Amino acid sequence: MKPLLEVRNITKRFGGLTAVDNMDMKIFPGEVVGLLGDNGAGKSTLIKVISGVYRANKGKIFFAGKETRIDNPMHALKIGIETIYQDLALAENLNVYSNIFLGREKLKRFLGLIKILDHDYMLAESRKVLDQLEIEVPSLKKQIRTLSGGQRQAVAISRSIYWDAKLLIMDEPTAALGVVEQKNVLNLIKTLSSQDIPVLIISHQLHDVFSVASRLVIMRRGKKIAERMTKETTTDEIVGLIVGSIPGDYHDVNTDTAKGSDVNRRHFASKSGKNHRPKQNQG
Ligand SMILES: Nc1ncnc2c1ncn2[C@@H]1O[C@H](COP(=O)(O)OP(=O)(O)O)[C@@H](O)[C@H]1O
Ligand SMILES: [Mg+2]
Repeated sequence: MKPLLEVRNITKRFGGLTAVDNMDMKIFPGEVVGLLGDNGAGKSTLIKVISGVYRANKGKIFFAGKETRIDNPMHALKIGIETIYQDLALAENLNVYSNIFLGREKLKRFLGLIKILDHDYMLAESRKVLDQLEIEVPSLKKQIRTLSGGQRQAVAISRSIYWDAKLLIMDEPTAALGVVEQKNVLNLIKTLSSQDIPVLIISHQLHDVFSVASRLVIMRRGKKIAERMTKETTTDEIVGLIVGSIPGDYHDVNTDTAKGSDVNRRHFASKSGKNHRPKQNQG
């Protein structure tokens, strides 16, 4: 199988600071990949390069088999790279279907003269995509502000899918959600991958990442230091790789002090605090 996305030797500097350093990564159709690393490791910068927010100083991006220069966020959207950031970029005072069509509203002619919003069309189309993803919201005519965090997240995902996402990137999708909502969003990610849409997920919630991702890419100080199949690793190993108490596979990165590692370890501990192996990924 060919990767849908491949980044090769991507380097992004901010002045004297190298935020992403010679990074390689592939994402295959239908895969869920977890991108992991401590704060400042370079995860968000890497996905911003992929989604056209930043231009890399060095390196290449291949999308659907072709070398692609992603110049700006609109370009990324046009080729099907949809990124959902933590703020979701929804309009609080608009309803669900208006948010799905935000900035891309459907108009129709009224009395053959003026153009008005085609509410019926947008409502029907929005219903289709929510059904496709098995998302339930109380009403598509409700304002976003009345929805729960999980429902908002679901609306943001629906919008990406409606506009033909080929790859969905999510930066901390479950950070602000309650337990049930987290489950719903994780199920949604599974639904997407079953429909062959790959998802790249950044999260500090290792438990969540282990439950959805089949492969994990670990960054430290801008570099990819390891890559693991989820079913062949444990949260302990991943935490060790993240904080540097376990050396990486690709690069010689100075390990953190023992004290620093302890602090970070707590930050990354899975909810159970145990050496967690997910049920889905076993066998
Ligand atoms: N716009 C920016 N200007 C300058 N430095 C930045 C900018 N964005 C990120 N950085 C720096 O780049 C490094 C990587 O940051 P980031 O990609 O946000 O890490 P992560 O998402 O893994 O926490 C950090 O040292 C951060 O301070
Ligand atoms: Mg970040």
